[in-house]
Amino acid sequence: MKGDEFATTRWWEGGAVIYQIYPRSFADSDGDGIGDLAGILGRLDHLAGTDASLGVDAIWLSPIYPSPLHDFGYDIADYTGVAAEFGTLADLDRLVEACHARDVKVILDLVPCHTSIAHPWFAESRASRYNPKRDWYIWADPGPDGAAPNNWISAFGGPSWEWDATTGQYFLHSFYPEQPNLNWRNPGVVAAMHDVMRFWYERGIDGFRVDAIQAAVVDDQLRDNPPFQRASPIPGLGARHGQELLWNIDRPETHDVIRGLRRVTDEYPGRILIGEVYAPVERLAGYLGHGQDDEFHLAWNFEPLLTPWSSADFTLAIERAEALHPADALPSYAFSNHDNPRHASRYGRERARLVALMLLTLRGVPTLYMGEEIGMIDHPALPPDRRFDRAGRDAQRAPMQWDPTPGAGFSTGTPWLPLVDPAQANVADQLANPRSLLSLYRRLIAARRSGGALARGEHRSIFGLAEDVLAWRRDTPEERLLILVNMGEPATSIDASRAGPSGEVLIATGDRHGRVELANLELAGLEGLVLRL
Ligand code: NOJ
Ligand code: MG
Repeated sequence: MKGDEFATTRWWEGGAVIYQIYPRSFADSDGDGIGDLAGILGRLDHLAGTDASLGVDAIWLSPIYPSPLHDFGYDIADYTGVAAEFGTLADLDRLVEACHARDVKVILDLVPCHTSIAHPWFAESRASRYNPKRDWYIWADPGPDGAAPNNWISAFGGPSWEWDATTGQYFLHSFYPEQPNLNWRNPGVVAAMHDVMRFWYERGIDGFRVDAIQAAVVDDQLRDNPPFQRASPIPGLGARHGQELLWNIDRPETHDVIRGLRRVTDEYPGRILIGEVYAPVERLAGYLGHGQDDEFHLAWNFEPLLTPWSSADFTLAIERAEALHPADALPSYAFSNHDNPRHASRYGRERARLVALMLLTLRGVPTLYMGEEIGMIDHPALPPDRRFDRAGRDAQRAPMQWDPTPGAGFSTGTPWLPLVDPAQANVADQLANPRSLLSLYRRLIAARRSGGALARGEHRSIFGLAEDVLAWRRDTPEERLLILVNMGEPATSIDASRAGPSGEVLIATGDRHGRVELANLELAGLEGLVLRL
């Protein structure tokens, strides 16, 4: 896939895999217990460029900017700086250069909807009602009896409004009170954020993951949300906190904001914009724009991540993704990230091999969350004094486990969050073991990178093979693949002969090799197969 122009300008369309790094927890180079940019640089062999690498195409770094850490970097105090504990701009330049030398793209996190309360823009805005930056944020007078201006609830619970005594108004925050919302109706905000993007594009950054974009614009009349009326099709998306999120989330004007981000991105060839759009696929689809040069290139579909371990629910999540994305857009999947319990904890470690096979054989662009390739689980018992996130997301942010030594190869100091279980799951041991989960990830990614049907094939599901068996085809004119996934624990016999008489095992979650007959195929419990027809 390298070298051809298509792949270099829209590189994510050729089977690419994105790897999410939570910088505090990936690798610590200076022994302060906090992961840093030099640490990432020192671990690039794991990601790409050697025969022992995973072979990912891009890394996405969760925020690396100066921040008072009320939301662990998603509250940004300086959009064009690097937090001291992570290193310097020069360290970032070195990392980008080293990644590019390995054909790895570097994607940064853009957090456009809110700043930190510590950002100088907010200091100006809150200083007086007449400050030129007053209107860069969303201020409102109190309601009757000093109450909040309306009934909106923040994502983490509690009112979306914080009282500011200096000027006698409330300011809006969709997340923590330490994250005041920017006002995207103000042209100064638009220009400033576009300049932030240009600053990073000029430095060679390959794109942005755009945070929480559904909260970019709210109703200009600040109308109340109606009370909860109906359950959302996917639990966790849509209505929340007893309200229908109609006036403060997913507003039509948001699309103008994204078009602006896209115009800036298109000033620089080959760059990518990925939306974190927390919405059901019907709504998500609208964020992928009309045609290939509009709005986001990719938008994460969170439905599979929020789906319980059930073949019926998974079938629906996969079909919804396939049926509801615009024809010219690729779906984009992740099963774990820094905001949700890891899938090896949600579903169980014994299911991690099957999840890997699904993630890397479905059509679209998968994102791996650091550590899932070795089956990392959430920290099961964080002591109260080692919990930092008020929304309770520390357990999935524990440090990466590189080897079985006491510091797990993460740090020579005391890790900022306790290690989970380096003796059970670590990169060094799994690299040496061809049957490990890591080796399975490497085989799956290698198969995608060969550029065949896993990279570019169409998707077509096959239903009704057995209650717990999911099946789909990935076909190009040159290669025809059948993917079989037994989500059930018991073994089960299927007749998949409608796909052909037999198939050659390309990749298996277990120890299967050679050709298998499809007419009477016994799948082991939790077995997954990629078969070439
Ligand atoms: C989504 C980020 O992934 C999450 O960590 C953060 O708390 C919110 N957006 C607010 O920025
Ligand atoms: Mg450090």
